[in-house]
Parts: sequence; structure tokens; C-alpha cells
Amino acid sequence: MKDKQTIIVLDFGGQYKDLIARRVRELGVYSIILSGDTTTKEILSYNPIGIITTGGPKSVYKPDSPLCDKGLLESGIPVLGICYGMQMMAYVQGGTVESASVSEYGQTSGTVISESPLFEKVGNDLKVLMSHTDRITKIPEGFTVTAYTNDCPIAAMENKEKNLYGVQFHPEVTHTLKGKTIIRNFLYNICNAKGDYNMKNYIETAIEEIRKQVGNEQVLLGLSGGVDSAVCAALISKAVPNQLVCIFVDHGFMRKNEAEEVKQAFADKSLKLIAVDASERFLKKLEGVTDPERKRKIIGAEFVEVFNDEALKLGRIKFLAQGTIYPDVIESGNGKAATIKSHHNVGGLPEKMGFSGLVEPLRGLFKDEVRKVGRELGLPEAITERQPFPGPGLAIRIIGEITKEKLDMLREADYIYREELGKLKKKPSQYFAVLTNTRTVGVMGDERTYGYVLALRAVITGDFMTADYAHIPQSVLARISTRITNEVHGITRIVYDITGKPPATIEWE
Ligand code: XMP
Repeated sequence: MKDKQTIIVLDFGGQYKDLIARRVRELGVYSIILSGDTTTKEILSYNPIGIITTGGPKSVYKPDSPLCDKGLLESGIPVLGICYGMQMMAYVQGGTVESASVSEYGQTSGTVISESPLFEKVGNDLKVLMSHTDRITKIPEGFTVTAYTNDCPIAAMENKEKNLYGVQFHPEVTHTLKGKTIIRNFLYNICNAKGDYNMKNYIETAIEEIRKQVGNEQVLLGLSGGVDSAVCAALISKAVPNQLVCIFVDHGFMRKNEAEEVKQAFADKSLKLIAVDASERFLKKLEGVTDPERKRKIIGAEFVEVFNDEALKLGRIKFLAQGTIYPDVIESGNGKAATIKSHHNVGGLPEKMGFSGLVEPLRGLFKDEVRKVGRELGLPEAITERQPFPGPGLAIRIIGEITKEKLDMLREADYIYREELGKLKKKPSQYFAVLTNTRTVGVMGDERTYGYVLALRAVITGDFMTADYAHIPQSVLARISTRITNEVHGITRIVYDITGKPPATIEWE
């Protein structure tokens, strides 16, 4: 986003760096995350309107701890130091940081004691999230203390002349009640932000960039049915109509109606969609396979083969597009990554096809922003609001051997479950059904039945790394149980999974 005002989030290892970057964007300012060891010269090359230094697990006074360059703090560019970021600001400029006798963790009350552009419209009473053992015991020359808590006499400080501000607490989390106002104040009162970032202009800029990069050439994209590749396709087809070729491999493990939804969503778009029904081919390969890892490997390899066969039929295409998003970029090394995602549908293809460039228009976006772009581009909700879905699909939600009958059974049951939970006001983060490999005795009318046990899974999570099982109202579970056992032949018993992650994973296989 070359022509947009930019905030740099300098990462010193804190767990909230993504959250800080997202908050800034939600407030209408573009942000990027750079590693704490980025040189001042490189940081300045982005022409940032402000810098936010994040928290981190180390102690600033230990020899191997990362510190920012003093020159950066002297550059006149506004800096907001958060937690470790604030301690570093103090330490680098001659203040003192020490380990406190009492650690402060959790929500704490605090008081603002001097007028500060950072605390405008915040009031004097603070409710903030603290998470620290070290604290500043002496501020550097030229600074004033602007807030304190019971256990932390220097909870915020500033040097207006140098445009340096620090808070010991975490304004980026919702546990800090006026945190968003504090970040807004930093952006608009201190950095003079214009608020020139939103999804509409992201789309405009992305379209211009795609046109410039691609010219009159063709672009190839693997559509997986997920949000990222779908939004990527919609964006590229809008930028360069009729130059995008999408290959959609239906491995037969999609949920009910899903393959149709993907095809329909793109039926009226200016692109060429090649939908390959490879379900029989995949089922054949999986005959007799019960081990989860083998299932995944076989599906992954087969996917590459089907995709590549189709791609090679197309002749030379110059560009490969990918739905890489910002978290993929951050995870693979702080914005330096430019490699091809180890995405299952492009393995080995880049060399064979000799692509001369990668098109990744979502590279700068977080997931919620990708969904927004999708909505702006008119994609249906069934796609933009889609839950995460594993690449191997229902194949890893059928325990044991996969057969066509089991797939049909699971598809129906899963559909009913998702339909009912979809009616809840507050929906879990992810919910799906699993067909176990256990059969139990049941009774229907006067008949004895012998059918499968179906497990229902629903979790609440922010990052999918840890999760709690969702507390679904009993009446809803009862309705789902009745519907599934009545409507899906072959299922006699329903159980609800009450395990968190850890110790379980979200998926069963
Ligand atoms: P687990 O089961 O590891 O899942 O707790 C965490 C999240 O990742 C999804 N998941 C996958 N996504 N390919 C994917 O693209 C996969 O092979 C895969 N396996 C799990 C899962 O649905 C959950 O959201």
C-alpha cells in the first residue's frame, strides 16, 4: 500500500503483535509488522507516520535482549511503546528498569494524572490489562509520568517534544476498557493520521497493482472452496476480466452443497472455471485406508496430481495466483517471505509450468479483512463467512475406512447440525459432525437397528491453537439429535464432544 499512511508495528516477541496491527487497521490506518531488529534505515524507508513497539518476554537490561536503535527514538516520528516496548524506550534513553517485587497480571485499575493527547476522552479512571514483572523505576530526562496503578507507579509516560509515549499496559486487548480510544488518540492526535485505509480503497489499489503486474497475460489459480482462494479469484477476475483460469478439484469430501456453491459463486464472474469431479479417483485411492496420516498424505498427493494434470493441459500460463494472507507472511518470517506456499494444490507445478510471477493480492490482509473484501466484491455469505475446513475435508471426519455410504451419511448429518447451530445468535467458532467407526444397537418402532455413533463438535476459539468446547443449549442439542436420528438413515446414536484443545485437537483425525 505504497500511497497509504503507514504505522509500523515493531515486534519484540509479544503475543499481541497481530492484534495491535489489526486494531490500527480497524481504526482506518494501514499497518505492517516488522521484526524488532529491523534497521532504522529500513524502517524509515516505509515513511511511517508512527511506530508502535510491542511487548516481549525478555528483560531490557539483560545482555541478549533486543533493543531498538536510539536514533529511531530521536527521529521525531511518534512512537508508542507498549509494555516491553515502553521499558525499552525508557532504558535506551537512560531511564531505569528493574524487576518488581510484585508481578502484575490481569485487569487492574489505574489513574491518569496529567493531561495527555494519548488519554483524550479516556477519563481519569483506567481499567487496564497488565502483564509484567519488570517495571520502570526512573523515567529518562524530559519525560513525565501520565498514569499509575497501585503496583506500578509509572504506568504511562510521555515526552511530548520528542513525540514519545509509553504505556505499561496493553491497550490492544479488550480487557483494557478504553484501549481502542487510546490507540485512536495515538493515531489521530499524535501521528496526524488521515484515516485513508479501508477495504474499498484496498480493493482499488489491489486492482491497479494486479493490472500493472499481469498486463495481458493469463493467470492460474487453484480454487479450494475456502475463503482466501475465493476472494483472490473474485479480485483478480475483476482486475483482469477473462484472463484468470481457476481449477477447482472436487475430491468428493466437501460438505453438502459446497461444490455447487463454489461453482455458482463464480458462474457470473469473468473467469474460466475448470471444475474437476475427481471423487471416484480419490475414493479408490483410499480403499481400505484407516490411518489418519496416510489418508492425509494420499489425498494431498492425489490433489497435486489432479491439479497438475489439468494445469498442464492448459499450455503455458505466465502467472500463478495464490490466496496467501498476512498471517501466512508473518509466520514465514516477518514479511520477508516470497516463496510459494506449501499449499497442496501447487506442489511441483511451478517448475513444470515455468511461471514467471506470483500474484498474491491478499498478502497484506488479515482474515477478517479478506472476508470484508469478499463481501465488497459481492461473494455470497456461504463463501465469505465460511468456517475453516481442512484440506482433506470429510475424509478426516470419518473415522476408519471411507466409503460412499458413510460420506453421504456424514454429509446429511453435518448439514442438519450446521443448519441448527447456524440459527444461534452467538455461534461457536467452528462446528461440525464426525462419523465414528463404532456401531451400536438402537430401536426404531418395533425394529432393532444397528447403526453408527455420530459425534458433534463445536468449539470457541480465537486462534484455533487452543479452544474450549462450546456450551450449546440442551434444547438445541435435543432438537439436533431428534432430527439427525430421524432424517439420516444409519445413525442410531449421537454424542457431544466435551473436550478442549488441549488435550484434544479440534478435528478428530
Ligand atoms: P486441529 O485439529 O489441529 O485443527 O486442532 C486446528 C484448525 O485447523 C483446521 N485443520 C486443517 N486445515 N488443512 C487445513 O487447511 C488440514 O489438514 C487441517 N487439519 C485441521 C481445523 O479444522 C481447525 O480449524
